[in-house]
Amino acid sequence: MDDKRSELKKIIMDTKTLPTLPGVINKLNMLSENEKSSVQEMAKIVSSDSVLSARILRLANSPSYGFYRVSTISNAMILLGVNVVKSLALSSSIFEIMEKNSVGLWEHSLAVGVASNIIARKLALSECEEIATAGLLHDIGKVIISLKCSEAETAILAAIREQEIYMREAEQLVLDTDHAEVGAWLSKSWFLPDKLSEPISFHHNVIQSDTHRVKTSVVHIADIIIKASGFGNSGDIFVPKIQQAAWDCLKLSQELLAEMVEDIEDKLIEVKNFSLEIQA
Ligand SMILES: [Fe+2]
Ligand SMILES: [Fe+2]
Repeated sequence: MDDKRSELKKIIMDTKTLPTLPGVINKLNMLSENEKSSVQEMAKIVSSDSVLSARILRLANSPSYGFYRVSTISNAMILLGVNVVKSLALSSSIFEIMEKNSVGLWEHSLAVGVASNIIARKLALSECEEIATAGLLHDIGKVIISLKCSEAETAILAAIREQEIYMREAEQLVLDTDHAEVGAWLSKSWFLPDKLSEPISFHHNVIQSDTHRVKTSVVHIADIIIKASGFGNSGDIFVPKIQQAAWDCLKLSQELLAEMVEDIEDKLIEVKNFSLEIQA
């Protein structure tokens, strides 16, 4: 059993066999941390990636942003906002990693990203964009399992159906690890900051998250709300309960939760359109 686990860990930690995070995202992250950097500087970096530039221009010219005619990347960035562009850079590169048959997981991830953002804003938290990014990436371990262990993936999917268990339990049965731990290894190998790696590693076990428990709790709840809404495909056939640690950490109430669910469901049609636009 332990063999599979260490084999998988070795594959992930050996960066040569793994898709790397595109340099454009690292550069954008560095620039956006520096308040003095201009939109023009960022636009220059984005322009170096032609696929990303095309997607940004298409989005900026789409009816959801009004009927502007935008022909330059810097105007598109002013219209869309730097954070939208950053999320788009990250999400489109993640999408490229995903195989075509993972569209359901892509839509689940995108929706959890949006839902995390809505919850974070509702609770007036800081770093809402980071929380949204953590939501977008929370199940990245599933992508890696599907890419690197396709045989195991078939066995995992069969175990979920036949034994009526959660995906994590099926992953543990087949691989002796799960997508959250795989995500933790990946975060390490990608040098992601703790505020992203903690929600990725502990979104199914909030109590283990020490430094960024608030962010982890938001992603945990967003994941459950999106599963309950039936949007996308997380791989699970049941909806888990919200963990007490997350509930306590965010000082939730039933009323607040109901409001969040309503706000999120209102947004899902836009998420669907956005997803179709990116895939086009
Ligand atoms: Fe998950
Ligand atoms: Fe999920």
